[in-house]
Amino acid sequence: MSRPRIAILISGTGSNMDAIISACRHGSLEAETVIVISDNPEAVGLKKAHLQGIKTVAVSYGKGIPREENEVPILEALRAERVEWVVLAGFMKVLTAGFVKAFPNRIVNIHPSLLPAFPGACAIRDAFEAGADITGVTIHIVDEYVDHGPIISQEEVPILPGDTEDTLAARIHAVEHKLYPRALQQLFHEDI
Ligand code: GRF
Repeated sequence: MSRPRIAILISGTGSNMDAIISACRHGSLEAETVIVISDNPEAVGLKKAHLQGIKTVAVSYGKGIPREENEVPILEALRAERVEWVVLAGFMKVLTAGFVKAFPNRIVNIHPSLLPAFPGACAIRDAFEAGADITGVTIHIVDEYVDHGPIISQEEVPILPGDTEDTLAARIHAVEHKLYPRALQQLFHEDI
């Protein structure tokens, strides 16, 4: 079976990136992580990827510069590595419509809520503070809107009595680390 060439885009810790790289290594995800790109040169995930022998690129977004221009080096790196799928894993910049068009239906995102509930950068906190009983994780194809696009997979995570935002976040992340590699394998290799 073919192993699509994927790029993982991160801004921080990269725990989902780790889960994906590890699934590729173990063969449960038939794909090859050819590059990890971050908008944050200090991202811990960049160092982790580098230590695993994966090519890394840091692209700092200049203030006051149009997003399209900031994205140029990312697109160049993706093309140079002949990337087939772009996997967003905690990448905190919104992609332009032009970027999305460059990889039509080939950009995937993970979001820590049951979309369309609680979109945005603070989804775990928002669900917790809203007093919701249930939140979860969504994997979706990226379109030109934020936290929006065809849903590939979702899993519920209950908010338990006695939960703090931290305990809830830990359970959500544990679900993410299993769900993301599994959803990518389905997307790449099954008709869904
Ligand atoms: C995850 O919760 C993901 O759902 C969200 O950003 C977080 C990234 O965490 N988009 P990590 O960098 O993968 O640890």
